[in-house]
Amino acid sequence: MKKSVRKAVIAGNWKMNNTPAQTTELINAMKPLVAQADCDVVLCVPFIDIPAAVEAAKGSNIKIGAENVHFKASGAYTGEVSAEMLKAAGVEYVVIGHSERRTYFGETDQTVNLRSLAALNAGLKAIICVGETLEQRELGYTETLLKFQTKMALTNVKEEQLDNVIIAYEPVWAIGTGVTATADQADEGNGFVRAAIAEAYGAEAAEKVTVQYGGSMNDGNADELLSKVNVDGGLIGGASLKADKFAAIVKAASK
Ligand code: PGA
Repeated sequence: MKKSVRKAVIAGNWKMNNTPAQTTELINAMKPLVAQADCDVVLCVPFIDIPAAVEAAKGSNIKIGAENVHFKASGAYTGEVSAEMLKAAGVEYVVIGHSERRTYFGETDQTVNLRSLAALNAGLKAIICVGETLEQRELGYTETLLKFQTKMALTNVKEEQLDNVIIAYEPVWAIGTGVTATADQADEGNGFVRAAIAEAYGAEAAEKVTVQYGGSMNDGNADELLSKVNVDGGLIGGASLKADKFAAIVKAASK
C-alpha cells in the first residue's frame, strides 16, 4: 500500500497565539483559501479559542483540534482539560506530546501514552509528536529514539484505534528555528516512525497510518517535503498563523 491510500493531513498548531476575536478573523480569512483542499485541514488552537474556532469553522472543511488533553476523566487536576470536555466543545483532533510540552511542562513518554489513550478512547483523533534533539541526532540515536517514542506513545492502543492516530515527526532542532529538515531527513524520520508501527502492529497496519512532518514547514518548502513517500502531511506552527501561507501548504498537500 502506498502513500496515495493514506490521508494527507495538514494541521496548524497555533501554540500560545491568538485571542478569540483573532481566531474568528483568521479562520474567516482561511476558509475560502482552503475550501478546495484535497487533504484534511485541521487547526489546533488554545483551549480558550476553541468555541470561537468551532463557530467560525462551521460549514467549512476546517476541523478544529486542541493542543493538549489530560488523561483523567475529571477531578482535582487544576488547569487541565479532559477528552470529554474537548469532544463536547466540538473538538475532533488533539496534539499530544509536542516537544514544547515535553521540554517546558514535564511531559514524559508515559504521560504522552496516557493522554493518547484518553484521547483515543474518547474518539478524538490524536496527533502524537515524536522527535530527536540535535544532540541525540549527532550521537546517532535518531532511529532508536523515534522508534522508542512511537512505541511508548502507542502502548495499549488497539490496532483498530490506529485509524485515529497520526504521528508527527518533529525534529526538535527544526521547530520554530527556521531550520527545516531536508526532505530526505524528513522522509527517513517518518520512515523510522512507520517501521516502529510495523514492528508493533504489522506492516499492513503501518502503511495506513498518516505520518506528518513538522518543523519549520512553510509555503516555500512544503512541496518538496510533501513529495516524499513517507511524508503524509504536516504539523505547521509559525506558518499556520498566516492565512495565505497556511493555504499554500494545504494546496501543496492537495496535489
Ligand atoms: P514550526 O512549529 O512550524 O513553527 O517550526 C512546528 C510545530 O511545533 O509543530
